[in-house]
Amino acid sequence: MSDTRILIIGANGQLGSVLTVALKEKFGADNVIASDLFKKDDFEGQFEIIDATDIEVIQKTVDQYNITQIYHLAAILSANGEKNPLRTWEINMKTLFNVFEVARLSGVEKVFYPSSIAVFGDNAPQDETSQTAYLDPATVYGISKAAGENWAQYYYMRYGLDVRSVRYPGVIGYQSLPGGGTTDYAVDIYHKAVLGEEFSCFLNEDEVLPMIFMEDAIRATLELMDAPKEAIKVRTSYNLAGTSFSPAEIVASIRKIYPDFKVKYEPDFRQDIAAKWPRTIDDSAARQDWNWKPEYDLDAMTATMIEKLKEQYNVQ
Ligand code: SER
Repeated sequence: MSDTRILIIGANGQLGSVLTVALKEKFGADNVIASDLFKKDDFEGQFEIIDATDIEVIQKTVDQYNITQIYHLAAILSANGEKNPLRTWEINMKTLFNVFEVARLSGVEKVFYPSSIAVFGDNAPQDETSQTAYLDPATVYGISKAAGENWAQYYYMRYGLDVRSVRYPGVIGYQSLPGGGTTDYAVDIYHKAVLGEEFSCFLNEDEVLPMIFMEDAIRATLELMDAPKEAIKVRTSYNLAGTSFSPAEIVASIRKIYPDFKVKYEPDFRQDIAAKWPRTIDDSAARQDWNWKPEYDLDAMTATMIEKLKEQYNVQ
């Protein structure tokens, strides 16, 4: 029997929904409590409605289930965040403080807090961006994640709270849809390809961004959370790399399977966000400290995405 009792905040999201399944498999469904603003009709398992801006409801849930680990995945992402900067800041930071405070006051053993490549801006090198590159994010989402990373380190140093974090690249999976990020195109494009529709890309065809396949992203999260405490040397957030590519490269990969796939480029404000982000990430600290190694390259990801989406849409 596992003593681990997990609360996932933001369990309806792109990552949260898949991570919930993975954590249930690993720790047993009895030990995992999913939460979000509402419960999806098809959700199976333990679920609580949590608005993470309300500290009382987080506290009540942690007490009720004797929670030992919190995965705090709720946030407003880069593109959506720009529509209402102050509200994005308010929500992203308030939920973080609520989780950290409840965790420290309740003796929660570990907290997972995701950061993002969005923490980097104009003054970080865009190729092989290092762990310690300068952080001058240009989106309110990126600012909130850069601040959140520093608060994670503060809670560790000041209170000994074991907060762990990775800077996720764009996450690409067939299981769920992203919600309002700059890297969302790389999920949408596969849906259009499988459905035989033309794709309109909101980035320039040569805009290279760091990405990661969902399986790798989940495995990274579980491996980081499993690592011995002494191994975790970076207490802000670890750089994490999967594979980097441009829209033109993902299109070429898809056309190996669908040669007639049609794409047009209609860059919008998200191109300006992407232009300030890294192209490739140096994740040697994660490799060194907790043996991180990605498995999926672009073509492997394309093959799996297309196979799984064909099943989901029931098309040939
Ligand atoms: N995928 C995220 C976004 O585009 C990056 O953290 O906002």
